[in-house]
Amino acid sequence: MNQPTPHIYYYTHPTTQGTHNLTTHLNYPATNIANAEPPQHPYILITPTYTGNPNKGGYLPSQLRHWLNNKNAQQNLVGIIGTGDINWGKEFCAAADELSAQHGAPVLYRVDRWGNTNDHNNINNGIRTHWRTLLRMQEARNANHKL
Ligand SMILES: Cc1cc2nc3c(=O)[nH]c(=O)nc-3n(C[C@H](O)[C@H](O)[C@H](O)COP(=O)(O)O)c2cc1C
Repeated sequence: MNQPTPHIYYYTHPTTQGTHNLTTHLNYPATNIANAEPPQHPYILITPTYTGNPNKGGYLPSQLRHWLNNKNAQQNLVGIIGTGDINWGKEFCAAADELSAQHGAPVLYRVDRWGNTNDHNNINNGIRTHWRTLLRMQEARNANHKL
């Protein structure tokens, strides 16, 4: 059976586009969630962190939170990459951790802004090496949810 190939979906703020910039250095097709419905195939999600009003809850961009309400978005999520700014200290890439806690998919990498060549190589090699394992983990999570 043909394995699905890696695909990335990401949120990026339309003005700063740091996460978009990161995706231009990666070897995999990447789609801005602003332009697409949630996929019906496995994907890796890249999200920046935006610390908001604590009363409104969470670190996730609200557009992404909304996008993730969809069942396809939840079931096909195999891994998460965070973008952020290291100066936020303990809250560095907190949205990635928040998502992982909510959906059970692992945080694969944390990137300061759009990263450097070392980060880009690590991510490209990491996805290539671990994609099949990530697919198996995702299948196991979905099977557990159906029990
Ligand atoms: C209001 C605001 C809050 C932020 N909060 C955090 C944070 O808590 N943790 C973090 O790692 N980065 C934080 N950042 C940094 C962004 O996540 C970082 O600049 C990221 O590269 C933005 O990606 P984007 O340009 O694709 O939207 C914040 C940035 C802004 C403007």
